[in-house]
Amino acid sequence: MSMLYSIEKLDELRARVQEAKGAGQRVGFVPTMGNLHDGHIQLVQAAKEQCDVVVSSIFVNPLQFGVGEDLEAYPRTLASDQHKLEAAGCDLLYIPSVSTMYPEGEMNQTRVKVPGVSEGLCGESRPIHFEGVATVVTKLFNMVMPDVAFFGKKDYQQLAVIRKLVSDLAMPIEVVGVDTVRAEDGLALSSRNQYLSESERAIAPQLYQILTEVSKRLLEKPSEWQDAQQYGIHALVEAGLKPDYLEVREARGLGKPSVSDHQWVILVAAYLGKARLIDNLEVALNRLKD
Ligand code: PAF
Repeated sequence: MSMLYSIEKLDELRARVQEAKGAGQRVGFVPTMGNLHDGHIQLVQAAKEQCDVVVSSIFVNPLQFGVGEDLEAYPRTLASDQHKLEAAGCDLLYIPSVSTMYPEGEMNQTRVKVPGVSEGLCGESRPIHFEGVATVVTKLFNMVMPDVAFFGKKDYQQLAVIRKLVSDLAMPIEVVGVDTVRAEDGLALSSRNQYLSESERAIAPQLYQILTEVSKRLLEKPSEWQDAQQYGIHALVEAGLKPDYLEVREARGLGKPSVSDHQWVILVAAYLGKARLIDNLEVALNRLKD
């Protein structure tokens, strides 16, 4: 097992990354907020396959938490996260403090706002969320200077926001989306699953089952995508979930779908007890019939 170096100081991080790059090594980056599960480890593994050096970060970013989204209660599990990262072969772990990230305070921090893809879906019920994500990811990219960065497709809208910001700001970074890791019953792994009671955990896999059924309906009758959407919303309610949204979108820019697109995605967010669960399923349009 290779050794994991945990780094708090930006100068040290930069020196180590520069040394690796100077030796011609390709640097992969997996930003996280900690409380790691197998989905994060999958990102580290993808980075290991494609890069020579893997850097991860743990930073619970206050800018992406809205009012009532309990930043304080977000689980901090550094020792077990370090253990998991080391076992997965991660080389460097950057753990900046809030004052390193936002030395002049959160209110005085320059913000990055990504238009279009940040709006609607999760952007509707979490209005400041994607600005906070885009700001911290831009800053982390400037600190780490990776060649490639890895994000889970589970946070599909986040991935679209990051792809657009990298393209719009001409950042020399490749963004790789990694498939969602699921439990055997189909539930997407998420740190929010720990908020589910036993009976809620039994209901939760229906989210993926409903996405699968909506996808089947889309493949059968793509022109009736709005009916498929409606079916999905009703099915969520029937299953005991409280839908925030279930929408069919074009996969890249998340605009309204059209049958001339190559790829669609069904995105869902629903409340189950205290947890707000999100998931999505891509639908390959070349399999569509009409
Ligand atoms: O997906 C996450 O864990 C966070 O939104 C990220 C990308 C690490 C930014 O804080």
